[in-house]
Amino acid sequence: MGWIEWFRGWFQLIYEMLFQRIMASHLQNPMPLPPINDLTCIVTGSTSGIGLEIARQLAQSGAHVIMAVRKPKVAQDLIQKWQNEWSGMGLPLNIEVMEVDLLSLDSVVRFAEEWNARSGPLHVLINNAGIFSIGEPQKFSKDGYEEHLQVNHLAPALLSILLLPSLIRGSPSRIVNVNSIMHHIGFVDPEDMNFTSGKKKYRSMMGYCNSKLAQVMFSSVLTKRLPAEAGINIVCVSPGIVHTNVARDLSKFVQAAYHLIPYFIFNAQEGSRSTLFAATDPQVPEYCEMLKADEWPVCAFLSQDCRPANPSEEAHNIQTAYEVWEKTLEMIGLPSDSVERLIEGEEVKCRYGAEQE
Ligand SMILES: NC(=O)c1ccc[n+]([C@@H]2O[C@H](COP(=O)([O-])OP(=O)(O)OC[C@H]3O[C@@H](n4cnc5c(N)ncnc54)[C@H](OP(=O)(O)O)[C@@H]3O)[C@@H](O)[C@H]2O)c1
Repeated sequence: MGWIEWFRGWFQLIYEMLFQRIMASHLQNPMPLPPINDLTCIVTGSTSGIGLEIARQLAQSGAHVIMAVRKPKVAQDLIQKWQNEWSGMGLPLNIEVMEVDLLSLDSVVRFAEEWNARSGPLHVLINNAGIFSIGEPQKFSKDGYEEHLQVNHLAPALLSILLLPSLIRGSPSRIVNVNSIMHHIGFVDPEDMNFTSGKKKYRSMMGYCNSKLAQVMFSSVLTKRLPAEAGINIVCVSPGIVHTNVARDLSKFVQAAYHLIPYFIFNAQEGSRSTLFAATDPQVPEYCEMLKADEWPVCAFLSQDCRPANPSEEAHNIQTAYEVWEKTLEMIGLPSDSVERLIEGEEVKCRYGAEQE
């Protein structure tokens, strides 16, 4: 990535921070949702921040929601609280909990197998869970992958592919990836996605931004691999700059700044709007289909104000995107023709999973 792109990325981040509220001033808060009683939605990381708001609002609008979380007890307590608040306002919320820890690819495979075994439809998969361990030293999961890369990109990629049979059953269906404007500052070296070659010194900021860019690139190739008849649309969204627990690892100084500038920073409900829009608005599939028909090089991307946006210039690097795709499949233990085989209704074996325990 050249200096110009890097400066442009930072400019966009600062611009979003200063002007997101003005850009999104046409949106209501909370965002009214269309009728979604017939939707089944999985939301990862729904015990905190943006994911919590997404799960609550989808359930209150009638959807069947599965909170895919690593702390089931926290999710159960939230459901109890929401049911109490909701009592007398309609039917009880249709919401349940399933455990998944994205730091373990075995756990992701077990989750997908358990869900697919129900043989029911899945209409919306929301890959929301993410980490931003700013200032922390490089850490690796038990699978051996840098943690930002695993939680923000590899595990959601594995989940998306393994859930394709359920998404096909739910077609027309959507995969919504909660991405970030910060992918504009990322640069992915497909030969060193895990930052282990020593070619570049690891910094946590780079780990975060690169994981988000890798997700956009992977989503672009997945969009191309899925035939239009499969009826699965993929959208990456920026939630804006949002006051959530994602800032828990930021320095005390930056955390104080978060509190001092509440006008500029979205609250979690405001930050949930672009994802809820991507998950439920009837115009979104039309937009995705239009991009696909035009052979647009990148996947659909919505900004925090729910308007279409162009991902970074680096995200348009098709050759790198295909290399990221291949490398990602290798890292998550799937054969390179997984998508085509799953579309054909064949089984695909993953290197990870229950039998590896
Ligand atoms: N906040 C922002 O300004 C901002 C900006 C751009 C993009 N985003 C993206 O928005 C998404 C949601 O973040 P947030 O701001 O709402 O942060 P958050 O409040 O920290 O929520 C993150 C969620 O992810 C879950 N999670 C983390 N590691 C996990 C793992 N190994 N397995 C399963 N779940 C895991 C967390 O679970 P626990 O509660 O168990 O920790 C939590 O529920 C992330 O993808 C983030 O990158 C946020």
